[in-house]
Amino acid sequence: MPQIVFDGVRKSFGPTEVLPPLDLTLEDGEFTVLVGPSGCGKSTTLRLLAGLETLSGGEIRFDDRRIDTLEPKERDIAMVFQDYALYPHMSVAKNMSFALRLARENKAEIERRVHAAATTLGIDHLLDRKPAALSGGQRQRVAMGRALVRDASVFLFDEPLSNLDAKLRARMRVELGEMRTRIDKNMVYVTHDQVEAMTLGDRIVVLKDGAIQQQGSAEELFENPVNRFVAGFIGSPTMNFLPATIQERDGALVAEGEGFALPLAGPRQAIESGAREVEIGIRPSSFTTDMGAGAPVELRVSVAEYLGAQSVLVTRCGPHEVLAEVASTRRFKPGETATFAVPPDAILLFDRETGRRLAVPQHPTGG
Ligand SMILES: Nc1ncnc2c1ncn2[C@@H]1O[C@H](COP(=O)(O)OP(=O)(O)OP(=O)(O)O)[C@@H](O)[C@H]1O
Ligand SMILES: [Mg+2]
Repeated sequence: MPQIVFDGVRKSFGPTEVLPPLDLTLEDGEFTVLVGPSGCGKSTTLRLLAGLETLSGGEIRFDDRRIDTLEPKERDIAMVFQDYALYPHMSVAKNMSFALRLARENKAEIERRVHAAATTLGIDHLLDRKPAALSGGQRQRVAMGRALVRDASVFLFDEPLSNLDAKLRARMRVELGEMRTRIDKNMVYVTHDQVEAMTLGDRIVVLKDGAIQQQGSAEELFENPVNRFVAGFIGSPTMNFLPATIQERDGALVAEGEGFALPLAGPRQAIESGAREVEIGIRPSSFTTDMGAGAPVELRVSVAEYLGAQSVLVTRCGPHEVLAEVASTRRFKPGETATFAVPPDAILLFDRETGRRLAVPQHPTGG
């Protein structure tokens, strides 16, 4: 398996630049997830790697070998497309073996590989069916199987779960997670779903407008986002952002805004000079009813969504809407004003202009 290197890769469609120079290294055997909002260039990045689009600049290498000049079929890559693109008139077995038959692989070998892939995916009992007689999740597995039989060294997945309903999606996500431990290959997986990204990726690469915002493990991105975009993108429910001014009170730093005054953790020098007008970020899960945990803040509950063990409260803090995720052991009613604590080290600071993260708490709790 190769290390995959994007070296200054650019892509424009006519006058529209989709990828500014992209530098990205995907390590051997890694499951990498590219995640970002619609239109940020995820599919384009995969298609460049697969050879379905040509580069406008830069190069792509597998280890030291340049591959962006090769034909798609010479690249040793298998791709699973978002819409599955199964042949409706062919059985599952024929769909899965299509590429191998095209390559004039011998019959016994084709059968062996189709059965192996079908067993891995749990669709060996469906081999004689046509796609129309399959559920969405089964079709999705056939599409995956068609890639797996190829025995390529790199597998690309473009939002393979996006056509499935929520429940099936969750199940396929778990199955994919299990499958990847059995298949020791480079996998590059594209999604705009941060939950998929966090659960599947060894490494998550967050893209916005074709530019890498941050890359790292799920924990790194959740606990130490480098900017407001990543902080707001990773984690569900979404982080709250509130405009605040940094004030000094008796030698300590406090973030003050309409409806709150919250002490900040960390050494004072961590807060860069001049950065007084900030945005604070608080994860919904950082609000607690344990009043010893930090400074109090009053939230007026407008909606209480009961989700089982947890409830999500849609609240007002002064003029701001704030989400809080709390244990359902205590039930909150709409209209009620309740007091919560926010641990100082759960408060992140962002430059109000640029969105850049300003100070890293000493002990990030991640909430
Ligand atoms: N063939 C094309 N011609 C012109 N513009 C294109 C073409 N293909 C993609 N684009 C543009 O490039 C940008 C990135 O597209 P891309 O398909 O890579 O986004 P994406 O991140 O995969 O989005 P989504 O999550 O919606 O699939 C978009 O603004 C899109 O409109
Ligand atoms: Mg796409």
